[in-house]
Amino acid sequence: MRKVLITQDFIDTIDDFSLRDLFRLAFAATMVSYSNYSYEPSLGRRVAAGRDEIEDFPVFQTILNKLGEMAKDITWLKASLPQDRQTAQIINDSFLRCKDYLAPGSVDLIVTSPPYLNNYHYNRNTRPHLYWLGFADQPGDLQRLEHMNFGKYWQTVREKPCIDLGFSLPDSDIAQRLQALRQLNPGKGIYGGNGWANYAASYFNDCYRFAEGIDYVLKTGGTALVVIGNSILHGIDIPTDRYFGQIAEALGLELVEIHIPRATRVGNSIIQSEVRVAKAKRSHQLYEAVVELRKR
Ligand SMILES: C[S@@+](CC[C@H](N)C(=O)[O-])C[C@H]1O[C@@H](n2cnc3c(N)ncnc32)[C@H](O)[C@@H]1O
Repeated sequence: MRKVLITQDFIDTIDDFSLRDLFRLAFAATMVSYSNYSYEPSLGRRVAAGRDEIEDFPVFQTILNKLGEMAKDITWLKASLPQDRQTAQIINDSFLRCKDYLAPGSVDLIVTSPPYLNNYHYNRNTRPHLYWLGFADQPGDLQRLEHMNFGKYWQTVREKPCIDLGFSLPDSDIAQRLQALRQLNPGKGIYGGNGWANYAASYFNDCYRFAEGIDYVLKTGGTALVVIGNSILHGIDIPTDRYFGQIAEALGLELVEIHIPRATRVGNSIIQSEVRVAKAKRSHQLYEAVVELRKR
């Protein structure tokens, strides 16, 4: 803690804001490794995961090493770009508002990975970073981020009667599969299929808005590479990659290919709480896909 506070004091003395932000980023990228938190994969206390608390740690060296890696990346990137295209702009907003910032048909390449359909709670899991970097001072400050987040958290939609898909895909079984999910385990109340179907429908409604944004910003012939993982809800396999590809095609984008670079992925709390892992493994498998789209 003492070492961390010294780094914070030092960072505050850096007058150049861009340089200060690089130090803040290096701190944020490493802070959990010298805290008493750990990701298992959600943010929790180290002791709860059976690990010892950290009494001391080479904090300065860790931040310096990270800065060194960042400098190497920046040097590599600059060397890889033509002289007249070495600038970058960071837009700190939701992609779903891309039209406020980008002209139509202005982007050559999109490389991205939206949240998966696994209810990973980004606000909750990045709490240390949000607070230590001054993006939040109290829980209410996180609401804006929660609202902008892709999809909705299951906790916020599980009690609603029925949230449906806001679009139709005639050649897809997406609607039937969500309907099948909706009818499962009604006796489990908010933990039953209806809550998860609401969650999935909200997710795919944002996939639709996401694909609309991709279609809007890409140049003709431009490519989007979208890394996305499938999901299993109440034992029902939800092939998010295929459904996302179908949504994109319905909007007029070309689905070039769905690549599967990782055919296995470690499950998350949804599987553990809703289906026994062994059972899930037997019938379905979690994987990661890259959906390659092209603007016609
Ligand atoms: C699967 S992770 C991808 C992480 C990324 N590959 C990285 O290395 O940082 C999904 C990311 O999407 C972000 N996200 C969620 N909603 C978003 C939105 N509406 N616009 C832009 N990013 C969003 C989350 O905060 C999270 O960092």
